[in-house]
Amino acid sequence: MKDYSEKIRENAGFLRDLFGPAPKIALILGTGLGGTKTDFPVLAEARFKEIPNFPALDLSGHERVVRVLHCPEPVCFVHGRYHLYEGLSAQEVVIPVRTLSEWGVEYFFLTNAAAALREEYHPGELMLIRDHIGFFMPNPLPWPGLSSTGQDFTDMSDAYDPDLRALALEQAENLGMRLSEGVYLAVPGPSYETPEEIEFLRKMNADAVGMSTVPEVIALRNLGRKVLALSCFTNYGAGMKAGSIDHSAVIDTAERSSPGMLKLLLALAGKVALSPS
Ligand code: HPA
Repeated sequence: MKDYSEKIRENAGFLRDLFGPAPKIALILGTGLGGTKTDFPVLAEARFKEIPNFPALDLSGHERVVRVLHCPEPVCFVHGRYHLYEGLSAQEVVIPVRTLSEWGVEYFFLTNAAAALREEYHPGELMLIRDHIGFFMPNPLPWPGLSSTGQDFTDMSDAYDPDLRALALEQAENLGMRLSEGVYLAVPGPSYETPEEIEFLRKMNADAVGMSTVPEVIALRNLGRKVLALSCFTNYGAGMKAGSIDHSAVIDTAERSSPGMLKLLLALAGKVALSPS
């Protein structure tokens, strides 16, 4: 049986054969953000289900796909991701980012939909993730088969790259976009939180809560890759406003803010593409 590392290498080989050398940058487009259309020519694409060792599931009905677009530098767009709430392990959830890293992608811009935990934020706005709280999620380390190397004790002090964050704030200002910085707290989902849980998360200093991103960031930092992440506020945490949380409204709000999010990420990608690695 192939071990985990062999599977990752096989996936990366598949992408290399199909797309050629890895782009420097990948954008991981989360819930409601994956459908974002661009005018850039698509150089090549692979559906998750065509990649040899990607978990075979498509519960959402949304096709998950990896594309390389000519922006004019090649940029890898990953439309959709895996989540723990699909019944996958944390190690399985990070297979796409591990594969892209093995292929040679150096910079990862991750996006997600999240609930706002502060009154001053508004649905549709973006938050630059400064740090995260991940205790509620299983850790994707150690890699199966690699646990004896001792390389799993990963420093997470500056997980969200300070230079990339500064650049993102600068680009947002140039574009006239409001961009706050804050702490993202991850929960496994898929149920939304109770009002009492939200009260507790607010006391923990979290600014946003969502169901993804943290396992990928831990895996990428273990691999020494640079990470930037943005949350799109789709709703307030349960109990902060009257009414219930509706999944289709969450998706609609994310979809509406995706053109702005993409504009910002592409402005940032343009700057990073020009910088030496
Ligand atoms: N809770 C957790 N994750 C989310 C939410 C929420 O209210 N909205 C979007 N992702």
